[in-house]
Amino acid sequence: MNISGGLALQMFFRGLRNTIAERPLSVSFEITHACTANCWHCNWGGPVKGEKRLKAEDYARICRDLRPVVSHLSGGEPLARGDIYDIARGMANPGQLPWMVVVTNASSLNEDKYWRLKEAGINQFSVSLDFPDERHSEFRRIPGLFEKMSHVIPQLAALGHNDVLLNVCITAWNYRALPQMIELAARWGTPMNFSVYTPLRLSDDRGMPVPGLLDDVRRVFERVIAMKRAGWPVYTSERVMWKFFRFFTERGIPGCQAGRRFLVIAPDGRLTPCAMVMAYHDTQRAMLREFTKHNTCDLCYISTRANTEKTARDFIADNLDLLLGSVLPWRKRKKIDLTALRGDGQVEDGKPTGAEPAESPWLEGEDAGSPDGGEGEAAGSAGRRTRLPTVGPASRPGDLTT
Ligand SMILES: C[S@@+](CC[C@H](N)C(=O)[O-])C[C@H]1O[C@@H](n2cnc3c(N)ncnc32)[C@H](O)[C@@H]1O
Ligand code: SF4
Repeated sequence: MNISGGLALQMFFRGLRNTIAERPLSVSFEITHACTANCWHCNWGGPVKGEKRLKAEDYARICRDLRPVVSHLSGGEPLARGDIYDIARGMANPGQLPWMVVVTNASSLNEDKYWRLKEAGINQFSVSLDFPDERHSEFRRIPGLFEKMSHVIPQLAALGHNDVLLNVCITAWNYRALPQMIELAARWGTPMNFSVYTPLRLSDDRGMPVPGLLDDVRRVFERVIAMKRAGWPVYTSERVMWKFFRFFTERGIPGCQAGRRFLVIAPDGRLTPCAMVMAYHDTQRAMLREFTKHNTCDLCYISTRANTEKTARDFIADNLDLLLGSVLPWRKRKKIDLTALRGDGQVEDGKPTGAEPAESPWLEGEDAGSPDGGEGEAAGSAGRRTRLPTVGPASRPGDLTT
């Protein structure tokens, strides 16, 4: 990412200060819960009737009070709010913190919106990706989304600001496609960050690989790490990848710091500890007292949690390349030979291997389920297919910009 040496230092020191003062490192402003998509793994999707929303200046005030290191504009789909530019401008502090990230499904992202958001103070565009091909559109239930992204994302990346990042939530359905998605990120000219599925959003653990798949998951993770070591554009550290693996094996990671290291602002301005636990509070201090102190939930390890719960030592170790790159600008990433891409993700140490990909557990064959029909199929255990329930409306809501 395009973080200058000065900003990296500010991040480090504000991070340290907030940690000591029990203030959040990351605040996610869910500025609307309406969404242009209706993803299989998410509780949002479609319009939300009568949603109570704050104005730009109110979010700005909350952001000033909490003084996070990183501020996310998320949702729902944040670009569905027509006043997102005012919201970003109100919170941003050009050249200073917070680091402003917009988290989007990119359904309405284009170069014009990219420039308007940048001008409003957005530092990073975190674009969600679930599959390296049309399955992404099916999973998100937006026909043509992958095709659209294959034009827009490389176009934005080619502008050369190093501010577009792909964000992949690892699930039982897509883990085998991770190497292919890394190849795709390299082709599109973006880095890739991983997160991990939580069953909490839909009370559905079918996105978690069953025990019989874990050896396979481990092999894929080893390949991802080999690719990272060989210079492929993977942002997630090896240590965090193995914590994700531990989350899949143990089905929980204790010690959650929701409400302390990170928290979420609902569209109406109330505070919740995370996107999954709807325990509303008016102030962070109340949340710390009433929720965080007694919290024993361990059912998610999404990347926000993984990145904000790091010790200072882990933070430095995980970001050494980034930190050195920002203070020593001549220190460049290893270059990947894109001509070595085979398009099937069979890459080891940056070079193709002869191994064939394992059979994809998801959306293959004639009975592969219709995304718009509201029911799809997924491997609930190795080779066994189970029906995914309809989540949210079956039809696409279209453009929800308000
Ligand atoms: C809720 S979305 C909101 C922003 C935007 N609509 C998007 O999709 O990027 C933020 C992130 O949460 C992820 N997400 C959704 N459901 C999830 C789940 N069950 N477990 C983990 N991450 C999930 C999405 O893949 C996305 O990257
Ligand atoms: S994960 Fe999908 S349904 Fe959920 S908010 Fe993002 S785009 Fe919408």
